[in-house]
Amino acid sequence: MNPSIDPTAFRQAMRRLAGGVGLITVGSGDDRTGLTATSVTSLSAEPPRLLVCINRNASAWPLLAEYRSFGVNLLDAGQQDLADRFAGRGGEKGPARFSSARWKSLVTGAPLLEGALASFDCTVEEIIERHSHAIVIGRIEAVDLGDWSDPLLYWSGVYRTTRDLPAEPFAVAG
Ligand SMILES: Cc1cc2nc3c(=O)[nH]c(=O)nc-3n(C[C@H](O)[C@H](O)[C@H](O)COP(=O)(O)O)c2cc1C
Repeated sequence: MNPSIDPTAFRQAMRRLAGGVGLITVGSGDDRTGLTATSVTSLSAEPPRLLVCINRNASAWPLLAEYRSFGVNLLDAGQQDLADRFAGRGGEKGPARFSSARWKSLVTGAPLLEGALASFDCTVEEIIERHSHAIVIGRIEAVDLGDWSDPLLYWSGVYRTTRDLPAEPFAVAG
């Protein structure tokens, strides 16, 4: 590590990167859990692949490595309570995180959130363990498109919605 790069400065700078908020869900029945993640990234459309970065200390990590499948559920602005729950903020663990919402499964059996902006049902194509995290490449087995709605955003350590933005921030003259 370059000792002149202070991790606090890195975190401070990364807080300026705005992100959408997703829930990564793994397992089934009493053997399921999940986490809140902003690291959901599109990798390629042809073939359809995404990636997520998961802390290997998270409770979801061993289940993901075992099941080799997972759900990615994009949250809307009204689902902040779920984001808190899956970030462990209310103290719920494992299946208790799922109790306040309805879930379904499509191809892999991974739990998918009913009412998500969109959900991806994925199998693991590759896992790259690096430093504290694992980069997980997901092969999309099914896409579930929900109703159109404002996304839940996370920026500068706070949840936000597009309603927090000025009405016409990027108006171009002419
Ligand atoms: C807005 C937000 C985004 C997060 N993004 C990630 C992420 O991309 N990857 C990750 O591993 N943890 C992320 N976390 C932290 C996990 O949600 C949290 O550590 C985890 O759910 C708690 O771990 P546990 O399941 O062991 O209790 C994020 C948390 C919040 C609140």
